[in-house]
Amino acid sequence: MIDKINKLLSDIEEVKATNLQELEDLRIKFLSKKGAISVLMDDFRNVAAEEKKVLGMRLNELKNKAQDKINELKENLENSNSTEETIDLTRTAYPVQLGSRHPLSLVKKEICDIFKRLGFSIAEGPEIEDDWHVFSSLNFADDHPARDMQDTFFIARSPEVVLRTHTSSVQTRVMEKQEPPIRIICPGRVYRNEAISYRAHCFFHQVEALYIDKNVSFADLKQVLLFFAKEMFGADTKIRLRPSYFPFTEPSAEMDISCNICGGKGCPFCKHTGWVEILGCGMVDPNVLENCGIDSKVYTGYALGMGIERITNLKYRVKDLRMFSENDVRFLKQFENAQ
Ligand code: DAH
Repeated sequence: MIDKINKLLSDIEEVKATNLQELEDLRIKFLSKKGAISVLMDDFRNVAAEEKKVLGMRLNELKNKAQDKINELKENLENSNSTEETIDLTRTAYPVQLGSRHPLSLVKKEICDIFKRLGFSIAEGPEIEDDWHVFSSLNFADDHPARDMQDTFFIARSPEVVLRTHTSSVQTRVMEKQEPPIRIICPGRVYRNEAISYRAHCFFHQVEALYIDKNVSFADLKQVLLFFAKEMFGADTKIRLRPSYFPFTEPSAEMDISCNICGGKGCPFCKHTGWVEILGCGMVDPNVLENCGIDSKVYTGYALGMGIERITNLKYRVKDLRMFSENDVRFLKQFENAQ
């Protein structure tokens, strides 16, 4: 019996396991109820009484050694970084998850690209603005009712600091610094103190365009608007201008396009009129030019401004404005293939 014990002791010294299955096989071989050590334990009962003491000690030693060895092998396996068994290097790699552009970014880019092709360049300004650039320079008199048109987020009073309510503030910033000719397009985020619903949000995005030069006329504006509408919504798109009012333009207009959802026939989206409003525009008011140090007797210009969300709704039929800022990947993934 002592020989068997010694043999098992040296066997155990030698054992190796390269994976958990091999380890389990070893445990079964040595330590299970029918394993080699249990068999010896059974034989132990028949050993002569005088040998029991020594053999008993050796058997216990064997059992402990086997248990220690199995534990040691287990620990080694768990800590090992060996790639050999745990990772199959021949397996095809997981596909790389690519992000996609946000629909508002896609549409902003498309609008800007159209204007860039007409020679406009991008201008940007701060979102935290002063009263002068958002209101006063743009011909909103202190007690002008037009100031009520926009619910403003005020950051500080006297001097007034606000979150800009429109990107028209960038017009002023550029005109103050740059001599005409000016041909800019200003994309950006704007803020208004509105209750959030499917059709209004407290922040949204606009693109503003401004062209100042000698002899710029309303006809130039109309031509650019028609070009933009056809590029953005397709060659069949028609436009119409309705007289409107903005403090910073005179005359002012709002532009509708033929509804690109029903093709002008009338549908719930265009409220059965066949037309949808997409932007405001007009000839820059001479007061605004003078406020920015531009001689209104020499120069004229036009301006226009549109909401990117509105254009995106028309293009992609997003019914709830809130989806643009919820970061729901199920929504965002739908734009993966958009250019
Ligand atoms: N700033 C206007 C708004 O936020 C939009 C606008 C209207 C911009 C007419 C213009 C313009 O440049 O000429 O509602």
